[in-house]
Amino acid sequence: MKLLITGMAGFIGHAVAKRLSGSGHRIVGVDNLNDYYDIALKQARLDDLAACEDVRFLKIDLADRAEVAALFEQERFDRVIHLAAQPGVRYSIDNPHAYVDANLVGHLNVLEGCRHGKVEHLVYASSSSVYGANDKVPFATDDDVDHPISLYAATKKANELMAHTYSHLYDLPTTGLRFFTVYGPWGRPDMALFKFTRAVLEGRPMDVYNHGDMSRDFTYIDDIVEGVVRVLDVVPTPRGSTEVTTDTASAPYALYNIGCGSPVSLMDFVRAIEKAVGREAICHYKDMQPGDVPRTWADTEALYQATGYRPQMPVEEGVKRFVDWYRRFYAV
Ligand SMILES: NC(=O)c1ccc[n+]([C@@H]2O[C@H](COP(=O)([O-])OP(=O)(O)OC[C@H]3O[C@@H](n4cnc5c(N)ncnc54)[C@H](O)[C@@H]3O)[C@@H](O)[C@H]2O)c1
Repeated sequence: MKLLITGMAGFIGHAVAKRLSGSGHRIVGVDNLNDYYDIALKQARLDDLAACEDVRFLKIDLADRAEVAALFEQERFDRVIHLAAQPGVRYSIDNPHAYVDANLVGHLNVLEGCRHGKVEHLVYASSSSVYGANDKVPFATDDDVDHPISLYAATKKANELMAHTYSHLYDLPTTGLRFFTVYGPWGRPDMALFKFTRAVLEGRPMDVYNHGDMSRDFTYIDDIVEGVVRVLDVVPTPRGSTEVTTDTASAPYALYNIGCGSPVSLMDFVRAIEKAVGREAICHYKDMQPGDVPRTWADTEALYQATGYRPQMPVEEGVKRFVDWYRRFYAV
């Protein structure tokens, strides 16, 4: 098959491309290499893929309608894994337009490309942030998610709604994946594990929000990749009803959580970093950041039913693997 991976220079896109390389597909990866974080890290991920003969990279901005239309017209993809987005909750407070361009306009352009290119399955990234400050745990895909508390979350929920519309109107099979705090080697410099590891290694203080009283369903990168790859082969079909009463009744549309299913408190996460680095953290306790959520916890039953897979990496081992990678990569 010919596959498109968007956001291939990103944390998850790079890992998905690496995993799919060698499996008999022709892969085209796109990314606009924006400077939201260190471009050298994005370039290093692409360099890491350079030896993969079945992977091609094109620098494309998904917000550019004509460019995306031409890409789909020329390449004729069978399946699409759409991971490019403007991520981050805190950044959306000061940079709202970046989210509209990448996550709304970019997503629409991908949907249009899939519709006109008759793509047989679009798998796209949503986020656990759509659950906002929900109290009911674990978070399940049929919970109410109409009260996002950041613009990032609102755009991710909008992505699901837009995908449903295309599934319903044009019979485009779409699967949304709500990722839960992904971590591991080649991770993102704006996320806690990267920032904390750097601070502990350098003996600098680090900001711990909500005075450490938070928990996250941390999910190791290889578990996310396994979920994405398995879901790619589970092409949704309409459930045989024409009533537009539920998400899945009328359209080839599916939505899954991909999380570990076992929340870890932020301070236990910090302890795992201290253990892996071999040095104590200097914590500066701060108030909750606007837009942040106190906890996340994935109900992974639907993913398991569909794919036979549940994420499984224990956080201590996953953190150790990240710290080992960080030390090798930055030679520290
Ligand atoms: N990492 C997580 O914990 C997490 C959690 C929930 C959801 N997600 C979602 O998963 C996806 C991948 O996240 P990630 O952690 O790999 O982030 P990332 O920032 O490392 O990767 C995203 C990539 O998309 C590219 N990109 C952004 N806007 C683009 C545009 N307009 N055109 C082309 N490329 C563009 C960026 O340059 C980047 O390389 C995103 O959709 C994100 O919202 C991630």
